[in-house]
Amino acid sequence: MNIGILTGGGDCPGLNAVIRGAVHAGAVRHGQTYTGLRRGWKGLLERETMPLSRESTYHILDLGGTILGSSRTNPYSRDGGPEAAVASIKALGLDGLVAIGGEDTLGVAQKLHADFDAPVIGVPKTIDNDLSGTDYSFGFWTAVQIGVAAIDRLKTTAQSHDRVIVCEVMGRHAGWIALECARASGADAMVLPEIPMGVDEVCSILRRRRDAGQDHAVVVVSEGAQFEAHEGEQEIDEFGHVKLSDRGVGEYLAKAIEDTMGWEARAVVLGHTQRGGTPLAYDRSLGTRLGVQAAEMIAAGRFGRMASLRGEEVTDVSLSEAVGRLRTVPVAEVENAQVFFGES
Ligand code: F6P
Repeated sequence: MNIGILTGGGDCPGLNAVIRGAVHAGAVRHGQTYTGLRRGWKGLLERETMPLSRESTYHILDLGGTILGSSRTNPYSRDGGPEAAVASIKALGLDGLVAIGGEDTLGVAQKLHADFDAPVIGVPKTIDNDLSGTDYSFGFWTAVQIGVAAIDRLKTTAQSHDRVIVCEVMGRHAGWIALECARASGADAMVLPEIPMGVDEVCSILRRRRDAGQDHAVVVVSEGAQFEAHEGEQEIDEFGHVKLSDRGVGEYLAKAIEDTMGWEARAVVLGHTQRGGTPLAYDRSLGTRLGVQAAEMIAAGRFGRMASLRGEEVTDVSLSEAVGRLRTVPVAEVENAQVFFGES
């Protein structure tokens, strides 16, 4: 079997672990050979490939980014794009295709399977951790660790200058990264997209801190958080998503805090540092397990499905279950964390 493999959407620590896992398991257990498609769906449409072998993927486990390159190309946003994608699968002689991606990339995989019975499977990738059908996507905990390490540093400089520092983290419309960064760094307040908060509410938490004698504070805000008076830039990508990093919610909140409380405030946007660099052991391990699972799914002909982590087990679920609904932070999870942010 000749299998295509691609990485689409934002890059993510652990992508190379998945590629290595699939290539090795496919070769050792099932006689599969893998062809890399460059830059996500773009590589399939343009038939830009790179050969992959056990030898060429042996030492990529600890590498950040993706050796295949990535893009946010959406075949469904182009005239004849889906048909061209299917024609490429045939022309390249692919018996199966592994799409490693988030909501957008896997949404394309799901449609290609549903519309054309294309032999596609998915592997969940996103630092945002917002895919249904899996408990975690690889890359998430690395992004959280980078955030926590940065906030630890920000705390010391906030302390030196008696300032508030607002740290904006990625995560799109799900607050998972903000929640775990705030909880694990011991931040003073957090603002998630799921729980709308006014500037007044953030300030009242900070006022309680100041009244209790604290002279500095750290607020973690998710890039997707909404404030009534704030709109920001609204640039849209090929999948119809607003580029949230351009909205400047961290800057907005820092200025609003300073204006409202007269407490000097600065904003720091972690942005793409959260996606870069070497993956944590957890994400190398999860990526590898999901890659091995992908090779198993292909061998068994379980197309239209996504490799998934359920509890401690790696299994698979239908792609429609995975992309049907965005997995946001449930209220119960926020309530559990709230003792450190809203109530004290
Ligand atoms: O989905 C991953 C993610 O990093 C989001 O957290 C963020 O909103 C987006 O990608 C940024 O995308 P880009 O790299 O295209 O600016």
